[in-house]
Amino acid sequence: MTKIMIDIPGERTYEVRVAFGALSHIAQAVHGCAPSRKVFLITDDVVADPYAQTVARDLRSQGFTVTVARVPSGEESKSINCAGELWDSMAQAKLTRDSCVVACGGGVVGDLAGFVGSTYMRGLPVVQIPTTLLSMVDSSVGGKTAINLGEGKNLVGTFWQPAFVCADLNVLETLPEREWACGCAEIAKSAAIDSDSFFFWLVDNADQLAKRSGEVVQEAVTKSIVFKASVVSQDKAETQGIRECLNYGHTLAHAIEKAAGYGTYSHGHAVAEGMRFAARLGVALAGTSLEFIKAQDELLDKLGLPALNFKADPQLLLEIMQSDKKVRAGHLRFVIPEDVGKWRVETVDAALVLEYLEAWQRSLAN
Ligand code: GLY
Repeated sequence: MTKIMIDIPGERTYEVRVAFGALSHIAQAVHGCAPSRKVFLITDDVVADPYAQTVARDLRSQGFTVTVARVPSGEESKSINCAGELWDSMAQAKLTRDSCVVACGGGVVGDLAGFVGSTYMRGLPVVQIPTTLLSMVDSSVGGKTAINLGEGKNLVGTFWQPAFVCADLNVLETLPEREWACGCAEIAKSAAIDSDSFFFWLVDNADQLAKRSGEVVQEAVTKSIVFKASVVSQDKAETQGIRECLNYGHTLAHAIEKAAGYGTYSHGHAVAEGMRFAARLGVALAGTSLEFIKAQDELLDKLGLPALNFKADPQLLLEIMQSDKKVRAGHLRFVIPEDVGKWRVETVDAALVLEYLEAWQRSLAN
């Protein structure tokens, strides 16, 4: 069992538990968050059975009153309608400020439950039980919550740190291959941005991670969470120019996902392509070495994240990037890796981005 304490200035310190079987201690952890013993458990259709039901049963057997709210699985649930229905159900369940919300699911459930939990009665404790590799290493830690609007993803949200995070690695056993690779992309992103020790450890263990070897999975999840915790503790509201590093690979990734149609490529596959692209831009902007590009390409290949053969109009990709909510004053911003563990955020000229997009597109097989 690994316990990581997340210590963010101005916030209550909280614990992330990473272990095979971590869920067996959930009642004890929830007890500290819900003195009223009233729990509102949010999950989705896919995760409800068996994980969320097992959690609900365990909590009930320990004397908790548990209301289970299921939302349809998928991004559509991160909506104002769904949030409204959950707030209504929370009121009907007579939650009080000494109750807690438990989120059991992937990133959608975590973001949505975090959002309604952070706003109902001006904020209840939220326990995160991430059930995908991606949500374990990224969204369950760090306190970003969100819902989508018609105009774009994650446009409404809060920063609300969870009270406790329980990452039970057993739940990953049934994760589909595409979802696994998706989590691996965020692990690779963290390793490249963090340090030589994380990156080269991952290079050495990438095959084992792709094969889901237990010890390596535990170590990779732990290292990623420790990295994220250190970033968030320095810049919890993304105002200091540090948390932005977590967007490595994401500028192009968002454009790929949108241009291809959401769901065509997984978020992770798009992020991996975005990392390849940002590193190549780095050659022009930050003296990024060809060795780094090669090492990162090989790592992503080993993790089941091959270069995407996605044909698109470079001008369209550029326009999508220019309309992204993270664009400031019309300037495109990329997290550029100078080397392993060294990065900077660059405002990049649209003409240069277009040139590199054209080069990428020319390099694709016909
Ligand atoms: N997923 C990026 C962040 O938490 O800032």
